[in-house]
Formats: sequence, C-alpha cells, structure tokens
Amino acid sequence: MIEKDRFLPQAGEREERAFLEKESLLGRNLCERFEFRDIRAEEAEQAATVEQICFPPNEACSKEMMHKRVAEAPELFLVAVDRRTGQIAGFLNGLSTDEASFRDEFFTDAGLYDPCGENVMLLGLDVLPEYRRQGLAGELMRRYLDRERKKGRRTAFLTCLPSKVKMYQKMGFRDEGIADSSWGGEQWHEMSCRMKQNGPV
Ligand SMILES: CC(C)(COP(=O)(O)OP(=O)(O)OC[C@H]1O[C@@H](n2cnc3c(N)ncnc32)[C@H](O)[C@@H]1OP(=O)(O)O)[C@@H](O)C(=O)NCCC(=O)NCCS
Repeated sequence: MIEKDRFLPQAGEREERAFLEKESLLGRNLCERFEFRDIRAEEAEQAATVEQICFPPNEACSKEMMHKRVAEAPELFLVAVDRRTGQIAGFLNGLSTDEASFRDEFFTDAGLYDPCGENVMLLGLDVLPEYRRQGLAGELMRRYLDRERKKGRRTAFLTCLPSKVKMYQKMGFRDEGIADSSWGGEQWHEMSCRMKQNGPV
C-alpha cells in the first residue's frame, strides 16, 4: 500500500489520485526490473564494492565492516537485485536497537545490533550511478520502512548531509537538526521517521 500521508501531506483529491497512480505504476515497473529481498551471505563483498562506489572514502563503510554487518544482521539489509544481471543495483541497511538517537558507533560496531530493538538506525542508502534518478532509492526506503513497521518497529533514524535533507523529507523523514555526529569529519543532520502510529517518536 502506498503511504500517501508520508509523501503528500497537503494535496487535493485529484492530485492525490494522480500521485498514487504514478507511484503504483513506478512501483510495479521497479518490481519487474528488480528483486527486493534480504541480502545473502555471499553478496557481502558485492555490497562493499557498491558502497565504495557510492560514498567517498571518509564516509564509506569499510569492506571489513560491511562483511560484519551482513554476517550479524542480514535481515536488516534490503537489496534491489537487477533481474537481468543478477547483480545488486542498490541497497539500504541498518541496525535495530532500543536506543532512540543516532550515534556514530552504529557505523563501526555491528555488535550494537539488537534483533528485538524497537527502533532502526539506518546506516546507508546506496544506488549505483547507472540506476539513479529512476525512483529506486525511494522504493527501497518505502519497502524497508514497511517491512520494519510490520516487525513492530517504532522509529527509523538516520544522519545525512544538508544536501540530502529534502530527499529524506520526501521519503517521510523529519529533520531533527544538527546531529551529534562527526562521521567522516562532516556536519550531519539527524532525521527520524515514525513507523508506528501510536506512541511517542
Ligand atoms: C542519493 C541516492 C541514494 C539517490 O538514489 P536514486 O535512486 O537516484 O533516488 P530516487 O530516484 O529514488 O530519488 C528520490 C528523490 O530523491 C531526490 N534525490 C535523488 N538523488 C539526489 C541527490 N543526489 N541529492 C539530493 N536529492 C536527490 C530526488 O529529488 C528524488 O525525488 P523526485 O523524484 O521527486 O525528484 C543515490 O544518488 C546514491 O546512492 N548516492 C550516493 C550515496 C548517497 O549519497 N546516499 C545517501 C546518503 S545520506
């Protein structure tokens, strides 16, 4: 189901219908082209390579760390696999926890993963350059939040550079201001998205 409220808070009925039709067509098209699923152990190296392509060295997750995350929490990855090539085109990964704000240690310590945690810290959204601007990141996020909501999670958190704040707002996140993070020597915004409708963020 398309969660229109997260994407289109103030539209009229006609715009809303047009939006939903477009989203549904887009989702169907992406579903035909990509398989969306958990990552497999043997894909850790591929995910690490995608990460090196997508992020500069000071921001990217190291190969070693990516292997650890895949080993510890494969169910907290969502990959989009190109059905034509069988290769990962993009992915989103995170760690669940009971903590309620982002800290940089989530990037470097997969041991912080608590499978029953009520929140999710999102650690990376990656789409290879040749697949960009086709809605893939938006679809990965939509499916990821939907999946984690069904598991009973409450809130998703992430940090991003100022240039990505609008993008995440479109995906349903709220800007919480400057994060308590110095990852990669940059200044970050913390953003959150409530998945469960009842209860505090
Ligand atoms: C950022 C990234 C994940 C976007 O992937 P994508 O599949 O091209 O994104 P989508 O096509 O789903 O676009 C979703 C929305 O995000 C916005 N957006 C896309 N790329 C963007 C970018 N580089 N900067 C700012 N906004 C962007 C678009 O406005 C789009 O909304 P629109 O379709 O209404 O215009 C991809 O460019 C990437 O992997 N970049 C390198 C890694 C990165 O920066 N990840 C995010 C870390 S915070």
